[in-house]
Amino acid sequence: MKYPKEYLDEIKTRLKVSTVVSKTVNLKKRGKEYVGLSPFKTEKTPSFTVNDDKEFYHCFSTSEHGNIFDFVMKTQNLKFGEAVKMLANLAGMQPYTFSKQDEEREKNWNNYKTIYSKYVEFYHNEIFKNPSAIIAKEYIKKRSLTVNEVKNFKIGYVTSDLDFFEILIKEFNENSLKNSGLFYFDEKKKKYVERFKDRIIFPINNISGNPIGLGGRIMEEKNYLAKYINSPETPFFKKGSNLFNLDKARKLSNKSESVFLVEGYMDVVGLYRNGIQNVVANLGTSLTTKQILTLNQFFEQIIICFDGDESGYKAALRAAENSIVELQPEKKISFLFLPDNHDPDSFANNHGKDKFLEFTENNLVPIHQFIFNHYLKITDDNPSSRAIFEKRLRTISSTIKDEFIRKYILEYFLGKIYELTPNINLKNRKNYKKNTKSLKSTQNYFNETKSLKPIEIKEFSFLYIILNKPELVREHYNLIENVKLFSNENKLLFKEILAQSKNLEETNFENLNIDKNLIDRILKYASIKHILAKNFNDDQKILEILTEVLRDLKNYELEQRIADLESKFSKDLSEATFNELKELKKQQKIN
Ligand code: UTP
Ligand code: MN
Repeated sequence: MKYPKEYLDEIKTRLKVSTVVSKTVNLKKRGKEYVGLSPFKTEKTPSFTVNDDKEFYHCFSTSEHGNIFDFVMKTQNLKFGEAVKMLANLAGMQPYTFSKQDEEREKNWNNYKTIYSKYVEFYHNEIFKNPSAIIAKEYIKKRSLTVNEVKNFKIGYVTSDLDFFEILIKEFNENSLKNSGLFYFDEKKKKYVERFKDRIIFPINNISGNPIGLGGRIMEEKNYLAKYINSPETPFFKKGSNLFNLDKARKLSNKSESVFLVEGYMDVVGLYRNGIQNVVANLGTSLTTKQILTLNQFFEQIIICFDGDESGYKAALRAAENSIVELQPEKKISFLFLPDNHDPDSFANNHGKDKFLEFTENNLVPIHQFIFNHYLKITDDNPSSRAIFEKRLRTISSTIKDEFIRKYILEYFLGKIYELTPNINLKNRKNYKKNTKSLKSTQNYFNETKSLKPIEIKEFSFLYIILNKPELVREHYNLIENVKLFSNENKLLFKEILAQSKNLEETNFENLNIDKNLIDRILKYASIKHILAKNFNDDQKILEILTEVLRDLKNYELEQRIADLESKFSKDLSEATFNELKELKKQQKIN
């Protein structure tokens, strides 16, 4: 028996090649691709590339090439069927077995999909065709949507004058139609009726783009009717496993690092209309772990942007506590709270794309900060409330699965809690009392050094040694003549020193044609200065220090060249670049 193409495709759409490969190979991102050491050969320089867009891997040293199934078959020595089972499991899918029951299920699934496709198509077209859809058209216009959005999302209107059940029943049996959730049996009328009658419908697609559920909105708010209803859960539609618009948004994962997660269908459509298309919505239920993990497969950052009202805030808090558990080192989850009770749809419609993105940039709150601020806000200024507060934060951080994230989030919480207990901290601070006078200048020094790059400080050390020990350096001129510096100022100074003092023969730096400020900064910030002062008369020691500094500079230069070449390699993939890279890495090792 053959695996159905849909099943294999679903595995492929759920799993990026890089996700599968990175389980066994350490991958580094280079432009659009990933590179790593080949799993097919022992090597020291990466020749193995992965391209998620094109859904393949390629190994330049062995010419191995293929998709995720080939990869696990080759690296784990599996047969095709075993590879499918393993990857389906990794993708969170049911194993495909070919029993009678599965055949039945497969048949049901095909029916289910076809019924939904026909239904969606039919009522989508009704909007344009059916004269009685005029109220829907007007409503859509009132919500600022254009034909574009109606078409892109295949929005429909279930007109009350039609009975699509009667059409479908010619092709499908009663059970299939009942199980779709699109109809229910009306005991009074003794017939099947439309669940979404008189509603604007938003198709919910699975990750591969097949409609599998619906959300339906009434047009006129009546308090005896729910504003929105969703398809009921069926064997093929689980709310907690799906996200509205994921099928379209995931295709943007190569262009965009982040995805907006909003509450409502209209928020997705409204942002989309305003040019923000990396957006999905959960389906009227609270956010599940599965949804977070799915989004993480495609995006580095999830921006949770719920409505700016109280219920939006509460939903955000629930989402934060559920999703912090799954936080991974290379992923981010942030929150965005909109002002003035706006929801994303209304904010984007009122202010436009640029303002929305600008607001996002300036107001993102990382998940740990949101949780901390929330609990602090509800804590009273008394010991038991504060104690509960601390315990709760410790409990939250202890639920985090990744041990590193767990550690640093706890550290963040404790750091902030520490600020709340100044008197306890005072005890520890006493030791520093003596120094408080110089604190200000220390602070300035700290701020200034912070603005210097580490490599600049290293270079200062190098120049510092030359300025202070010119005779010693001259004796070992060969060590320094080819040194490469990176900061332009330092480079100039070095050249000037060598020229003016004729390669350090006459060591009079008085007339150096160079900004005195730079010399001052070197004398001040060279991290070497205290060690040098201590060993000023020990030439042997100073030589050792110089060698050390030179090695650091050399390493920095190599690192830069390797980074350049790696990025070149990821583009040209040429043998020559590859060999050059190999050579440099060898040098780096020796150094
Ligand atoms: P909102 O009430 O915030 O509506 O519900 P909205 O998205 O802003 O919609 P408009 O702008 O009034 O049209 C947010 C989401 O909560 C679920 C739906 O998924 C909705 O999109 N919901 C809401 C329900 O499931 N049932 C309801 O009765 C209301
Ligand atoms: Mn709204």
